[in-house]
Amino acid sequence: MTASESPTLLLRRVRPYGEGAPVDVLIRDGHIAAIGPDAGADISSDVEIQDLDGAVLLPGFVDLHTHLREPGREDTETISTGSAAAALGGYTAVFAMANTQPAQDNQTVTDSVWRIGREVGLCDVHPVGAVTLGLKGEQLTEMGQMADGAAKVRIFSDDGMCVYDPLIMRRALEYSAGLGVLIAQHAEEPRLTRGAVAHEGPNAARLGLTGWPRSAEESIVARDAILARDAGARVHICHASTTGTVELLKWAKGQDISITAEVTPHHLLLDDSRLETYDGVYRVNPPLREAHDTLALREALVSGVIDCVATDHAPHAAQEKCCEFAAARPGMLGLETALPIVAALLVETGDMTWRDLARVMSTRPAEIAGLTDQGRPIEVGEPANLAVVDPDSPWTVIGDELASLSANTPYEGMTFAARVVGTVYRGRMTSRDGKVLA
Ligand code: NCD
Ligand code: ZN
Repeated sequence: MTASESPTLLLRRVRPYGEGAPVDVLIRDGHIAAIGPDAGADISSDVEIQDLDGAVLLPGFVDLHTHLREPGREDTETISTGSAAAALGGYTAVFAMANTQPAQDNQTVTDSVWRIGREVGLCDVHPVGAVTLGLKGEQLTEMGQMADGAAKVRIFSDDGMCVYDPLIMRRALEYSAGLGVLIAQHAEEPRLTRGAVAHEGPNAARLGLTGWPRSAEESIVARDAILARDAGARVHICHASTTGTVELLKWAKGQDISITAEVTPHHLLLDDSRLETYDGVYRVNPPLREAHDTLALREALVSGVIDCVATDHAPHAAQEKCCEFAAARPGMLGLETALPIVAALLVETGDMTWRDLARVMSTRPAEIAGLTDQGRPIEVGEPANLAVVDPDSPWTVIGDELASLSANTPYEGMTFAARVVGTVYRGRMTSRDGKVLA
């Protein structure tokens, strides 16, 4: 259904940004048509009315880092099931990482992902293009072709792998500046992480797990900041995980280097004390760090040193996670649990307002990606891409009940107070009270 065919929708009693008294929001032709106590006063009968009971209204979330596994691993997630998870999580746009099989390293694949995303129609699915062929780090892809295709690819990343060769990274940044696209780096110096499965520290040592030092991430962040500076290019750091990365981002931003960064909900909430049970569900790249890292990351998100939250939603099959820790695939689900976690850690503590949360989950990621119809203010005339949050609707995470095809959530059994109760995408409700609306 296109925006022009979408029905008129009235959101009754919502509080934009959680501020002020509840108002009604009228949505017509995919845009916000009126906001106010009487926005729905003289509407005709063929209007869909959603009573929202004073819930918080936010711009729809934008995820710069999602793994949808199609093509190649449709047994663990598809564009359809991942879009459903996104809709339930309050997301109206996701960027699907390039480490599919085959990889999204050419226009045929990126355009196909884009087209399927449109057909599913639950959120914008923007394919990320690979920086190098097969994510091997050796030969640059035809970024220009992917950028010019139907998908208009605007972010390129070998995520899952680091563009480790400094000369390849330098060339990629130079081309990206010319094309006006963004390179997102999975910062991991592979020479420092051979065989690594856990954060290098006292816990890994005690548990006998091979360590992944902070320096593996930080050395690439420092290097790429300098390469971006000299190329006059922008660079984005995926899943920042260490106190040192925060310090480097501060430094680089202080030098006016065009660097941005994301942090995942799991690196904000969890630390490596979880590894005690050797449960493979906690294996992730970069690894869960120490408590002081989680605190530094939270502070950096509040202050803007880290720009935004990205889920790194990484579905894996049960047999790939329920095995020996070192054999488990790295990655954890994220789309359906991101909002409750960020709200618990930062809004419920008073460190952030709902408006701040909208900045880190919607406005900034949309700006970083150059999206013009996402992350917009809640105002008349703006596109109706919105998330509705009930701040006090406690729910317990059960992996098997998530819309994702996989169940590898590290939050199994945890209860969170805030919950996404509705998502509006291009003027149409895509989820309501934990159900996806077709
Ligand atoms: C991701 C995956 O499974 O594709 N895994 C992970 O541990 N984060 C890859 C990535 O984001 O690096
Ligand atoms: Zn990664």
